[in-house]
Amino acid sequence: MLRYVTTNRGKVREAREYLGSGVQQLDFDYTEIQAPELGPIAARGAREAYRYADAPVLVDDAGLFLSAFDGFPGPYSSYVEDKLGVDRVADLTLAEENRRASFRCVLAYCDGEGFDASPDPVDRADRAVAAAEDDAGEETDALPVKLFEGVVRGRIVDPRGDGGFGYDPVFEHDGTTFAEMTAAEKNAVSHRGRALAKFGEWYRERTQ
Ligand code: IMP
Repeated sequence: MLRYVTTNRGKVREAREYLGSGVQQLDFDYTEIQAPELGPIAARGAREAYRYADAPVLVDDAGLFLSAFDGFPGPYSSYVEDKLGVDRVADLTLAEENRRASFRCVLAYCDGEGFDASPDPVDRADRAVAAAEDDAGEETDALPVKLFEGVVRGRIVDPRGDGGFGYDPVFEHDGTTFAEMTAAEKNAVSHRGRALAKFGEWYRERTQ
């Protein structure tokens, strides 16, 4: 049974549209390391969650990247949402000429086994940890993590709609904010939907 690792129920709702109702939420608050990219954060979280759950896990790390601010808040989106709030982020962006934005989502899968990188990247950063543990005569197995990424481009607008979660009301794609879409409509174009589609195709083959 696959565990979707997040404390956010909105993410799980969207994941179930792709992966079926059998996906279980693992409400596990993994350590979010400070890094300029989502991949290493998600990979690290997947290893930690796998060790905790001792079962296949999928970690979902996402962020909002604003062009006017050189990609900020990106991996810090959650902190910025907590401290400033979505409306304030929108106000700051609307004061700029450039309102372009993108959402990115990285899904990191770990089941304790290895796999081919192609066509998606594999994070093997655990090797250094494994080598260090080796010297200490401890656990030697590195934990490979497979990464799936999805991106959607849009622009920041005044808040509209009451669906979705997080920055959805202020993110407009093709004239509609994510909060004005149904879960299925959002999934069809969203960063998470795109990453989930890639993952789902790969996972079905793996588990056949
Ligand atoms: P995290 O991936 O749970 O750390 O989320 C990072 C931040 O991005 C949080 O503030 C979320 O609310 C926000 N976020 C993640 N995915 C989405 C989305 O699909 N729509 C709107 N906000 C999102």
